[in-house]
Amino acid sequence: MSEEMANDSPTGIHDLSFATTEFVLPHTALSRHNGTDIAKYHKGIGQRSMSVPAADEDIVTMAAAAAAPVIERHGSDGIRTVVFATESSIDQAKSAGIYVHSLLGLPSATRVVELKQACYGATAALQFALGLVHRDPAQRVLVVAGDVSKYELDSPGEATQGAAAVAMLVGADPALVRIEEPSGVFTADVMDFWRPNYREAALVDGQESIGAYLLAVEGSWKDYAEQGGRALDEFAAFCYHQPFTKMAYKAHRHLLNYCGHGVDEERVARDLGLTTAYNNVIGNSYTASVYLALAALLDQADDLDGRAVGFLSYGSGSVAEFFAGSVVPGYREHLRTEAHRAAIDRRVPIDYARYRRLHEYSFPADGGDHRTPSETTGPFRLAALRDHKRIYETR
Ligand code: HMG
Repeated sequence: MSEEMANDSPTGIHDLSFATTEFVLPHTALSRHNGTDIAKYHKGIGQRSMSVPAADEDIVTMAAAAAAPVIERHGSDGIRTVVFATESSIDQAKSAGIYVHSLLGLPSATRVVELKQACYGATAALQFALGLVHRDPAQRVLVVAGDVSKYELDSPGEATQGAAAVAMLVGADPALVRIEEPSGVFTADVMDFWRPNYREAALVDGQESIGAYLLAVEGSWKDYAEQGGRALDEFAAFCYHQPFTKMAYKAHRHLLNYCGHGVDEERVARDLGLTTAYNNVIGNSYTASVYLALAALLDQADDLDGRAVGFLSYGSGSVAEFFAGSVVPGYREHLRTEAHRAAIDRRVPIDYARYRRLHEYSFPADGGDHRTPSETTGPFRLAALRDHKRIYETR
């Protein structure tokens, strides 16, 4: 693709910030509990620890914590839309984004909506945001994506749990990444992972989900190529959805094979190596995961000025999208590397027993009034449930 065509779309990600939880469970603690060889976690699935929410944290507190620095830096002028992508929804009717809008003090002249399609939702939100900005380049859209990933205790998925939220300011003339046309999209009706309304933990067919993901990589790349996208060799790096970081490696090898490139492990390491640093210590943050991969890449790469990055967003069920971004020269001046590292380093390690209590804790469903234990040291907390309403507060 010519440079001219790559720069054709002057809209994209202007700012990116993430937040995660108060607590962290190292995989060494999980392996001591269940007797799993730690190498299976560290090497086999590529995970070292998982973010664990405090009892007074949820998708709203994490998303508000992720978005607050974005609003602090840029103000709210021009933000007329907030899109919250999540699959850990807290209400069947009201968008979690309205709580975030309120905690951040955003103007009433804003539309707020929640989007869901498993882990893919944030990419749908990003695409919708780009469409709005194309229509009116004076507008900016706040895209937030946040999830708490929860599987049954002692299930194979347990080691892939995590939690985080990412906030992206989408606008014209972005400072970080220009998102390009075209996109390759793919949908297949599969039951690889789902969570019925009556369950807190997801149901999953682990091996089937890996196969479904790989099929979606193929399908979305095929469509991307047919739509006239870039050649594989043009990309400096690839940000995959990372339910566990080794999944990105499986997916990329699959893509290289599919494209007839053969698998050169040095190339795979070069293409992915910098994208896994946050997800391997946070765990699966569902909607946020692919954008945490981008944050890790931008925060660590020497220089990506003008380089192309490939994105593969996958959401079980399933929907996938392959698209490209071109990194804006000078992007490094706009990064939040220190804050991102601090968000990870500030987490308090907990032992298995404490993790288990938090995992088993669920918000009372009796309709009564309940105060939430005060645990988080983050900027926002879920303080209580009163008259069936979630009460949030700024700390
Ligand atoms: P499992 O079945 O217990 O693990 O759980 P396994 O036996 O497949 O082993 C995993 C890897 O560790 C294998 O490597 C083993 O060889 C290796 P591979 O063959 O895959 O390269 N291994 C070891 N390595 C070193 N030393 C050892 C050792 N032992 C084994 N001693 C599974 C794995 C992924 C199934 C499980 O974690 C799970 O169910 N996870 C949840 C589902 C999931 O993450 N699926 C990914 C694709 S679907 C997706 O991405 C969407 C999702 O994010 C949801 C959404 O969209 O909303 C999940």
